[in-house]
Amino acid sequence: MSSAKLLSNSFAIPYILNTIATPTSASPIGVFDSGVGGISVLKHIHTLLPNEDLIYVADSKFAPYGNKTPEFIQERAVWIADLLISKGAKALVVACNTATAAAVDLLRQKYHLPIIGMEPAVKPAAAASKTGVIGVLATSGTLKSAQFAALLEHYGQQVEVVTQACHGLVECVERGELDSTVTQDLLASYVQPLIAAGADTIVLGCTHYPFVRPLIENLIGDDVVLIDTGAAVAKELKRRLEDTRLLNAETQIGQVGFWSNSTQTDAEDIVMRLWGKRVGLSKF
Ligand code: DGL
Repeated sequence: MSSAKLLSNSFAIPYILNTIATPTSASPIGVFDSGVGGISVLKHIHTLLPNEDLIYVADSKFAPYGNKTPEFIQERAVWIADLLISKGAKALVVACNTATAAAVDLLRQKYHLPIIGMEPAVKPAAAASKTGVIGVLATSGTLKSAQFAALLEHYGQQVEVVTQACHGLVECVERGELDSTVTQDLLASYVQPLIAAGADTIVLGCTHYPFVRPLIENLIGDDVVLIDTGAAVAKELKRRLEDTRLLNAETQIGQVGFWSNSTQTDAEDIVMRLWGKRVGLSKF
């Protein structure tokens, strides 16, 4: 089955598709997030691997994940993984720090294909900091997770790590409010304590936050470095595809399909704005 055919199939009935072909190097890569934030990761993947077909799933109806239980997020992650695998996905990218913390171990137990997750970039931030103070902006779900505690244990011992849960910020990005007064005020209240604590390196620990990066840059001095994990995730995906001989040998630019369960009437406009190009948004 061609990848073009796979991309054009309906998402609505994943459970009755019992003829799932074994993925090949020409199969698409499935990428998902609680909503539109993972598009910031998708951009890095498309830049690094332009010949790959990509299927992006935004679970916007259930965003934010940050205030949900791990059990709820696991249920959503399995549902979406089934959906992507039913469309022939050869690899999955969990383009969400919160979903990775809650569900990536379960996904790896359940499915035998490359699964790339992501976590706040504490390690590179600790290595880069000169003041010895780093800030982490993330959801409360990520910051409360056992995975984050392990990350601090491994890489946060030599520095002071100041964390900040950014309640309401994911919702702003989901509404397409990338520079509204509400978004600006929220960000000011979240970023200023990190600067006041002496942080010279701030980790964007949620994939929605790169979309408000210009606002964050307005709040920090030139001496403060922002770290986003999207490029590292794309590199790790490439490495895993090479290792498993699943890298697409195609020389044409791959197709990118967007799927969402958003109930917002302007959902397609928001996706186009974040992706930066005209796209069609399919519903599931
Ligand atoms: N993009 C998700 C992340 O990276 C946002 C989680 C949420 O929906 O709260 O954590």
